[in-house]
Amino acid sequence: MLRVEGLSHAFKNGTESTLVLQEINFHVRKGEMFALLGSSGSGKSTLLNLMAGLMKPTEGHIYIADHDIVKMSENKLAEFRRTHIGFIFQAYELLPNLTVRENIELPLVFQSIKPSLRKQKALKLLEQVGIPEKAELFPSQLSGGQQQRVSIARSLITEPSVIFADEPTGNLDTKTEEEILEILKRLNQTMNTTFIIVTHEHEVAQQTQHILTLRDGKLESSFRPNREKSDAPAETHAEEVLA
Ligand SMILES: Nc1ncnc2c1ncn2[C@@H]1O[C@H](COP(=O)(O)OP(=O)(O)OP(=O)(O)O)[C@@H](O)[C@H]1O
Ligand SMILES: [Mg+2]
Repeated sequence: MLRVEGLSHAFKNGTESTLVLQEINFHVRKGEMFALLGSSGSGKSTLLNLMAGLMKPTEGHIYIADHDIVKMSENKLAEFRRTHIGFIFQAYELLPNLTVRENIELPLVFQSIKPSLRKQKALKLLEQVGIPEKAELFPSQLSGGQQQRVSIARSLITEPSVIFADEPTGNLDTKTEEEILEILKRLNQTMNTTFIIVTHEHEVAQQTQHILTLRDGKLESSFRPNREKSDAPAETHAEEVLA
């Protein structure tokens, strides 16, 4: 589904160049719930933004459904993002002047889909994230956890093949965090959408099927915590996964 090959990235500042990701290789299976774990500054958001096509790497390839997004032109990439990729942000990023329903419908406004169908899809998703009664309220009238549910519904409305989430529970208390993770897990199972979640919390990562740990911009380990017995060994180190 998603494959990262020989990925390196350096941020340039004048003549200075700081290498923040070094020779990263891994793949994510279709329908997998995948966590990128690492301490602050380890390069998680940079890696996520590269995979989501929000910036170009210094070196390497990123294949999503067999398309190398590194080689795509900006126009093609923008179109690819609109149709294949969904986002969930730590700070929800909802538009304050649109209702909950209108926020969820927004990604479809750029596609030629009838307003009545948009509305129907948005209401269905709102039900799936458990707050159907909030459709006509504004984001400011919702709690943080409810706003994140709206943002999850919005990310799903284009039926993307992969959803990227940067610290989606970072602003939430433990109980709400658990509720949001349950919703993500349920949607992952029912819709077979691939989720790639950045977190610095082990508890969050443990809920997923595949954990990749970054340390100082390097891949430290790749681990499938809930793997079935019949599969290959549960824990492997980077070199083995990449072999
Ligand atoms: N635009 C930028 N220009 C220069 N350096 C950057 C830029 N963005 C990130 N960095 C550097 O790259 C490194 C990795 O940053 P990144 O945001 O990917 O870390 P992170 O793992 O997401 O951390 P956190 O958990 O704090 O969000 C850091 O040392 C950071 O200072
Ligand atoms: Mg980050």
